[in-house]
Amino acid sequence: MDTRPFRSVLYIPGSKERALEKARTLAADAIIFDLEDAVAPQEKTRARELLARTLQEVDYGARAKLVRINALGSAWGADDLEVIASARPDAILLPKVDTVADVTALARALDTRAETADTRIWAMMESTAGVLHAAEIARAPRMAGFIMGTNDLAKDMGCRFRPDRLPLLAALQLPLIAAKAAGIVIVDGVYNAFRDDAGLRAECEQGRDMGFDGKTLIHPAQLAIANEVFAPSEDEIALAERQIEAYNAATARGEGVAVVDGKIVENLHIVTAKQILARAEAIAELTE
Ligand code: COA
Ligand code: MG
Repeated sequence: MDTRPFRSVLYIPGSKERALEKARTLAADAIIFDLEDAVAPQEKTRARELLARTLQEVDYGARAKLVRINALGSAWGADDLEVIASARPDAILLPKVDTVADVTALARALDTRAETADTRIWAMMESTAGVLHAAEIARAPRMAGFIMGTNDLAKDMGCRFRPDRLPLLAALQLPLIAAKAAGIVIVDGVYNAFRDDAGLRAECEQGRDMGFDGKTLIHPAQLAIANEVFAPSEDEIALAERQIEAYNAATARGEGVAVVDGKIVENLHIVTAKQILARAEAIAELTE
């Protein structure tokens, strides 16, 4: 699951039958089936049962299936886990993770069940405490990915929303660096104005340039832009191929560096070039 693309990660409220049905055909790399904040308290029990049944009956194809349960300390978390475990999602997404203890508690619960032997854990990075503990959380047992919860994070920080996200920058980068150091996936937060394509594209580009693997989305209308922005472009693929070719030719001549388009190409650039090609291939396989 770790090398697969996570360009577009779509939230679907576990209570919405129509959206659950629709998701079978949507071009999302991954789906977050939500039992937490997108589901009202009086809907929690119905949503949990509906989602467990849907996951058992419906084939979501190659899309990664994450279920966001309620926090284990809440009134619903333990029951969410109990019911959802049998539906075998790829991962449980834990909200409001403040410390590594939140994750180890979930890991222990997963350890006790045969059907969750391979279930991974993803963590929401959405509190100031969580951001400060990100390095430790990223290395917790079963941990496979972080999701930025930028709405909760902005609330916690008391900062304002700005198109350049400058007030959030450090809070985005700490978990990002922690995820990269631990070798796990990290997906950027949602863009709330789901009819604003230009704004979404700009924020996707910013997240991509920072190093995020993809963007969480709230509406199907946002899928195409995230899939495009977080995929290697034709130009990037062509450049990667030329760099590899030039570098191979250079090493065949007994030289350690090549020059492509007036820029030096060393072994470290070749590592990046190969990653770009691998990513393009993984996307092609997923969308076949
Ligand atoms: N996943 C799958 N399908 C979705 C969807 C989603 N997140 N959001 C909307 N759809 C579907 C609708 O069911 C509708 O399908 P239909 O045309 O076949 O009936 C279609 O897309 C168009 O929906 P639209 O009428 O434009 O949206 P809406 O006004 O019904 O809902 C939101 C708008 C924002 C309330 C809704 O998109 C949503 O609930 N998003 C998820 C929010 C969430 O999970 N938040 C928690 C994390 S921040
Ligand atoms: Mg949240």
